[in-house]
Amino acid sequence: MNARPRDLQAFLDRSQAAIIACLSPDGEPMRVARRIGEGLRLDAPQAPRKPNRLPVCGQIAGALQTARAQGGAVAALADSFAAIEPQLAWDRRWTAKPGDAPFYDGHANATIVGPDGLEKRDDIWIGVSLLAPHVRYPDHHHPPQEIYVALSSGDWMQGSDDNWVTPGIGGHVYNRSNILHAMRSHDRPLLAIWSLWVTDRV
Ligand SMILES: [Fe+2]
Repeated sequence: MNARPRDLQAFLDRSQAAIIACLSPDGEPMRVARRIGEGLRLDAPQAPRKPNRLPVCGQIAGALQTARAQGGAVAALADSFAAIEPQLAWDRRWTAKPGDAPFYDGHANATIVGPDGLEKRDDIWIGVSLLAPHVRYPDHHHPPQEIYVALSSGDWMQGSDDNWVTPGIGGHVYNRSNILHAMRSHDRPLLAIWSLWVTDRV
């Protein structure tokens, strides 16, 4: 029996719909998206966390307003994210240092499904990243494949600093296993949802 709260289920459904909508039917990104979708049919223990907001979270409302203006699947995803956002425990990336004020004060992450999520599980991690305007997220890489859905404008680095892509609002970025990647905002906040298929390590 699925004990998942309705607002979380609605968010996951709309997140999956937004991912599927922007992928071509064949290829590795769709394979990953489908496996995430199949995995999410089974719920996992619900693990409500003490909600936490950082000052940069004041940027969320503006980002959601931009996403809602797109209409369609992006607006629906923004609405369902807004419904669960008050439950989230926003935090900084573990590498963030107070001495690097633009990044330290200009970003936040929250896990929705995953080891530290509202639903505790190891096989699928879904969360959200927020950047204030003109912030660059550090380069990073990880074994699980990852799909970002952009709810805002912004750029994503793929492989090296001379290769940035701009998916546009509602677009996606697929990160193959261990590819070096990063993201950066422009003159508006960047809000993006990421999904990782953790058990499909290569
Ligand atoms: Fe990543």
